[in-house]
Amino acid sequence: MPRRDDMTELLPRRGISPLPRHVGIIMDGNGRWARARGLPRSAGHKAGMAALRRAVEAADHFGIEALTIYSFSAENWSRPRAEVNYLFSLLKHFVRRDVAELHQRNVRIRIIGQREGLPVDIIRLLEHSEALTRENDGLTLVVAFNYGGRQEIAQAARRLAEQAKEGAIDPVEITPQVLARHLFAPDLPDPDLLIRTGNERRLSNFLLWQSAYAELVFLPEYWPDFDALSFQRALLEFAARERRFGGLKEQASARVEQGGG
Ligand code: FPP
Repeated sequence: MPRRDDMTELLPRRGISPLPRHVGIIMDGNGRWARARGLPRSAGHKAGMAALRRAVEAADHFGIEALTIYSFSAENWSRPRAEVNYLFSLLKHFVRRDVAELHQRNVRIRIIGQREGLPVDIIRLLEHSEALTRENDGLTLVVAFNYGGRQEIAQAARRLAEQAKEGAIDPVEITPQVLARHLFAPDLPDPDLLIRTGNERRLSNFLLWQSAYAELVFLPEYWPDFDALSFQRALLEFAARERRFGGLKEQASARVEQGGG
């Protein structure tokens, strides 16, 4: 096994085909990783932050366009206050320590999720990292923070209902394409690949709308053990899958060649 931060044994950039354009990750298993070592859950989240850095580096290495990470769900508020505070402090640390370096590496940072209810200093830091990296055209790192898929769809429906009430849109014009324009990051391609670590097999309210045709890859390792080789394994599994998008095999390959999701 190569060292976990050693990228030299990886396949080359764009060496896997087809490559997903957009990868989503549910970073699960921090708590169990810590418990297995007799450590507090916070130690698991801290180690999870290191795994996140490896994931970003690997996504960049392989030439992925967008990586969305589920870092705080709308349901995570139900955790003990101390754990919520610790996750907030990790996010602050991430913005203060990592964003400048990510900016140097041409990474564009986007935030999805509800800003209402978040502390003002967190909102400011999130806005700062988005503004700083806005012009970058390398990997797009989407941080899902205070995010829930159902909440996202509900707010899109609410906006459309408001427009309909004002007479700006006729309800018969509301198609899936129109609704999708009101999601948090409508310009991003849908995720082609969703990875969940920690041996759990569910979506947990992550990118529910966008993942309609995503390939799901479940990895047994806890998130703090995730490394570039885990990423590579998931990409190879994706490349071996046959995607049909509800149609037939031939139509699906034409769609991929045309750059469709
Ligand atoms: C799930 O593991 C993980 C989270 C709820 C938080 C994920 C956060 C990080 C990886 C680091 C922080 C990153 C940022 C940018 C804030 P769990 O705690 O549910 O694990 P368990 O299922 O084993 O208890």
